[in-house]
Amino acid sequence: MNIKTVGVVGAGTMGNGIVQVCASAGLEVIMQDIGDEQVTLGLKTISGSLDRLIKKEKISEADKQAALANISTTTSIEDLAEVDIVIEAATENETLKLQIFEQLDKTCKADAILASNTSSISLTRIAGATKRAEQVVGMHFMNPVPMMALVEVIRALQTSDSTYQVVHELSEAIGKVPVEAKDSPGFVGNRILIPMINEAVFALHEGLADAAGIDTIMKLGMAHPMGPLELADLVGLDTCLSVTKILHEGFGDSKYRPCPLLQQMVDAGFLGRKSGRGFYRYDE
Ligand SMILES: NC(=O)c1ccc[n+]([C@@H]2O[C@H](COP(=O)([O-])OP(=O)(O)OC[C@H]3O[C@@H](n4cnc5c(N)ncnc54)[C@H](O)[C@@H]3O)[C@@H](O)[C@H]2O)c1
Repeated sequence: MNIKTVGVVGAGTMGNGIVQVCASAGLEVIMQDIGDEQVTLGLKTISGSLDRLIKKEKISEADKQAALANISTTTSIEDLAEVDIVIEAATENETLKLQIFEQLDKTCKADAILASNTSSISLTRIAGATKRAEQVVGMHFMNPVPMMALVEVIRALQTSDSTYQVVHELSEAIGKVPVEAKDSPGFVGNRILIPMINEAVFALHEGLADAAGIDTIMKLGMAHPMGPLELADLVGLDTCLSVTKILHEGFGDSKYRPCPLLQQMVDAGFLGRKSGRGFYRYDE
């Protein structure tokens, strides 16, 4: 594997986590977002996350400083011209991602790999927005990135074996376990997870049990570490809704229709932890 420098587009929840694990593994990372405010917040989150690892005695203060020294930030995508791979973790919006990939394709050196952390958008369509489709691949990290071992590596129809191999090796080099999946709506993880969350919202909507009851049933009865509604709050209800819609449209199957309550929660701005309120309150 010849990856030494990584560009990460998006300094939000996933982007800053990806930056942290790459920098901690000794790679040079450039974190890009649209404004100074976003990159500053991203860096602050990384610093706080590394502090928590120090407290748990998983890393030393020197490890933290070494990781931070590997990170630089920018608000200009042109600064990613020389990186070996870009991992895009911007807002989940197809038009936006297609624009970003077109721009990355023009900006980045010819042999750079372009990866996306999209949860649900077709990698085959994203690859089609570039003139290097065989070098486009999905790297679907899980939230929170520093804690979760899995990277679902998604092969677009166009992805070459050598691109897949590099990304497989990179995932292992940053301490993750890569699992190959084909490009299809929701891939494998969200194809199973999101309908379960949507069904939990239906159960709440129909008054079968309250939120805590539904979560407790799944935790104690099915040995899930988190209930589906607390997990939905962690993921973000807007993200859950948009993935549900993508499954619904992608398969044209009514079994994926979003629960009306999920739509209403998003319309009300109750997006989960990030807005202070979802199925539970975080602002009191
Ligand atoms: N949150 C999760 O649990 C989760 C899990 C797996 C994958 N994902 C995927 O990761 C991606 C990012 O999700 P997130 O939860 O980190 O979102 P987020 O809202 O926390 O962060 C998105 C960031 O992208 C930035 N951004 C928007 N437009 C941009 C542009 N043109 N250039 C650069 N940056 C831009 C925003 O300013 C923001 O900081 C999405 O594709 C999402 O589907 C999310």
